Amino acid sequence: MALAIMCSGGDAPGMNPAIKKFVDYVYEKGETPYLVYNGLEGLIDGKIVKALHKDVAGILHRGGAIIRSSRSKRFYEYKYRKQAYENLKKHNIDGLVVLGGDGSFRAMDRMSDEFPLNFVGIPTTIDNDIYGTDTCLGVDTALNVIRDALDKIRDTASTFSRAFVVEVMGRECGYLATVSAITSGAEVCVIPEADFNIQVAQEHLKKEIEEGRSYILSIVAEGTKKTKDIAEWLENDIGMETRVTVLGHIQRGGSPTVFDRMLAFEFTIRAVDYLFMSKSSNKVVVFENGEYGMKEIDEVVGNRYELDPELLGMLNRLD
Ligand code: F6P
Repeated sequence: MALAIMCSGGDAPGMNPAIKKFVDYVYEKGETPYLVYNGLEGLIDGKIVKALHKDVAGILHRGGAIIRSSRSKRFYEYKYRKQAYENLKKHNIDGLVVLGGDGSFRAMDRMSDEFPLNFVGIPTTIDNDIYGTDTCLGVDTALNVIRDALDKIRDTASTFSRAFVVEVMGRECGYLATVSAITSGAEVCVIPEADFNIQVAQEHLKKEIEEGRSYILSIVAEGTKKTKDIAEWLENDIGMETRVTVLGHIQRGGSPTVFDRMLAFEFTIRAVDYLFMSKSSNKVVVFENGEYGMKEIDEVVGNRYELDPELLGMLNRLD
């Protein structure tokens, strides 16, 4: 039996440990692993290579993905999906593990409706915006990158009596912003999922400043597009000198944390076992309420991820 692995969409730390475990585990089971290079674009162009142990040696600790990733406009066209399927068949590949987000799962789901393809998705995105799983591969590393940046920003903010607005990634999801605000004790957190009552926040902050507060840390989720507004408010209405830091793509890089490495191994073993065992439907591996499981792809892509209300309740909100 031959199985392949590929990355699709935005990269996330944890992809390399998953790729390594995939190759080692498939060999351990006496079967043949393949690597699809360059994501969906590579699948269309036939960049599919039998994996050797040496290809995945020494990659565990590295961020990014040695087999690279891509987003593909061509994949929206039937003729390219057919080409992609035929490329897999040329190597007699029976199943595919896809590390990606729900856009990638949707693309693979479409392909599997058209061709007899078995795949298992591993939720991989720093945004943590995939329905049905409490966490995705890469989230913990991104949170630690943000924590490190916020600890440093606090040093300068407190020394120089300034307000800081730190913009974090997450697309339309405020998970990274919320957890980062909780764990860094930020005074302000602005996310797409909740209204931010600027009047109430202003009253609280002004009172605290009168009582001696000398700096303010604010986290803004990129999806709100409110970074500039919050900075102007802090500078003009709160009256504190303000600086903005957009953390950007450093949040996508770095050596995967221990948690993400373990998650990569657990997800990958389950994905491979499923492909060995069953060919009936396409699934996504999930981690929910402390347990691993499999969900139907339709359920995962057909529902929207929502922030846990308990998490929202933990925010040190001033509004
Ligand atoms: O989905 C991951 C992510 O890093 C988002 O948080 C961000 O909005 C987007 O990708 C950035 O995309 P790009 O790398 O294409 O600029």
